[in-house]
Amino acid sequence: MKRTHHCNAIRPEHAGAIVTLTGWVHSKRDLGGVLFIDVRDREGRTQTVFDPSDLPQDVCSTAAALHSESVVEITGRVRPRPQGTDNPKIATGQVEVVVQKLTVLNHADVLPFPVDDPEAANKVNEELRLKHRYLDLRRPEMARNLRVRSKAATAVRVFMDSQGFLEVETPTLFKSTPEGAREFLVPSRIHPGQFYALPQSPQQFKQILMVSGIERYFQLARCYRDEDLRADRQPEFTQIDIEMSFIDREDLYSLIEGLLKTVWKTALNMDIPAPFRRITFQEALDRYGIDKPDTRFGMELSDFTEDFRSSSFKVFSGAVQAGGVVKAINAKGLACATQGQIETMTEYAKSFGAKGLAFIKVEAGEWKSPIVKFFTQAEKDALKARLQIEEGDLILFAADQWLNACEILGKIRLYCAEVLKGQGKLVIDPARFDFLWVVDFPLLSFDKEMNRWYSSHHPFTAPVEEDIPLLKTNPKAVRGQHYDIVVNGVELGGGSIRIHQPKVQKTVFEEVLQIPPEETQLRFGYMLDAFRYGAPPHGGIALGFDRMIAILCGTQSIRDVIAFPKTAKGTCLMTDSPAGASPRQLRDLHIEVKAAKKD
Ligand code: AMO
Ligand code: AMP
Repeated sequence: MKRTHHCNAIRPEHAGAIVTLTGWVHSKRDLGGVLFIDVRDREGRTQTVFDPSDLPQDVCSTAAALHSESVVEITGRVRPRPQGTDNPKIATGQVEVVVQKLTVLNHADVLPFPVDDPEAANKVNEELRLKHRYLDLRRPEMARNLRVRSKAATAVRVFMDSQGFLEVETPTLFKSTPEGAREFLVPSRIHPGQFYALPQSPQQFKQILMVSGIERYFQLARCYRDEDLRADRQPEFTQIDIEMSFIDREDLYSLIEGLLKTVWKTALNMDIPAPFRRITFQEALDRYGIDKPDTRFGMELSDFTEDFRSSSFKVFSGAVQAGGVVKAINAKGLACATQGQIETMTEYAKSFGAKGLAFIKVEAGEWKSPIVKFFTQAEKDALKARLQIEEGDLILFAADQWLNACEILGKIRLYCAEVLKGQGKLVIDPARFDFLWVVDFPLLSFDKEMNRWYSSHHPFTAPVEEDIPLLKTNPKAVRGQHYDIVVNGVELGGGSIRIHQPKVQKTVFEEVLQIPPEETQLRFGYMLDAFRYGAPPHGGIALGFDRMIAILCGTQSIRDVIAFPKTAKGTCLMTDSPAGASPRQLRDLHIEVKAAKKD
């Protein structure tokens, strides 16, 4: 059972050769008694011809009875296709194999959904695809995604090796960490009532590896987070995890730019320009209303706080008097939005905390809006000039505290872009990749409910040197040495220069984050201990590998680039996990289940 060629390898120069192909019955057509079977393997497909005039009857009838996706071995002679029957869509479209021998290696049952037609397959509901993932992965688009993933992983390893990095594996049976997301716990059999936690990231191990003198570490690391799932989040996912000693932010930026250039070249044969643009957190919010801006289109936020400080439109002047801002965007070409669409948009804005969504439609030379009657000529002139208002525009406003106003309009900006894209009015080049570094994040954010500060990234991130004195006096103003890498509005990765002085780390834990000393000792004692014995200055980053592959493959969801992903409810439909455990297993693990219920 040896193939002579892959199903994508046969060309006109093979005409006359006897070849053996192995693979799956991709499609079958009967044209006046002559049967055509396309045989597919991982590489592609070839048309084979069963001609009853020179094949025994039983071979033809066996072939005719084959279901799609049966596994076959076919031997035959290559010939050019008759004139006018070439198929330019496939690489082997100029040839066919005239069958001499057919061996059925395995029969396939009737399929739950077709795998030979991309159009039809795309309409199949995702649950059915996930239940029969082995079939879904046979679809050429899915196989291509896995191939891109594998090539990219290899490119990452080769590049990191060339830069002197060691790939070190870190444990996946770990203990609780402080990185924000909820964790998966694994009960210990040997230690009743004790649990491991699956790591949310190898953060602490990689920092300890720096103390160990590894200097340059990387890992394609599996991470686990028990958080609400979305198209770009899975409970287990892969990071390209990196840590380096004796570096500053600039070293890290140029390393990652080099890495991404290599990966884009390998996967897409594309040269991406570097260095990447940099934007501060403050500017990203001010201009795009989000810390991961999609800079492939404009519709930027403009500030009108000063123009409306003493406006007679109280909604605006009131917000300014209360220390807030007035911001606006111009959704060019969206004046055609119906009343219903504007109401939907307003409700959407309200779901993010907006108090309302004032608007102006510019139609038939007029500014149509319930609020323009309150505006002075000077206010109108300011809007017109800075938003470059023209016929057909829709202007949308948010008056609120700075962060709220920015975030609300940031969401509305993306919403309007989707509507305009749907109408063909905003064309974003699908081959364009806008990379940028977002820098100077605030080190801390305030949790109103808990009435305390928490780390914006994680508690190991170093403050910007000159802001250290503000840690205790004005925590809000302290910038972190944190950076995110963003592409086309997706947060691809994030990292930071770390705190390497045990004293500063202890201050952050105990005085800024107000974690009691006993708890600090319990949770991070080993790290503080390690840092006492010569921790080098260090920093690193983690890139979401699944997200990177989804961007390279142009897929909407990271599920399409993971061989066996979980559903939005965290289940695997193929293996039916999670599942119950036997009473014996539970007894061994010292676990008593109070309510066992499966949806
Ligand atoms: P962070 O939590 O920002 O940083 O994660 C880094 C990157 O991992 C990806 N990512 C995910 N991908 C898929 N599913 C998820 N549930 C998921 N969560 C995160 C994102 C994200 O940008 N230890 C730090 C890194 C460091 O400081 O070096 C960390 O994990 O693309
Ligand atoms: P009102 O005077 O509350 O009826 O609001 C007049 C218009 O301003 C309506 O279109 C509201 O949606 C809008 N609006 C109200 N509050 C805000 C706000 N904080 N920011 C932007 N628009 C607002």
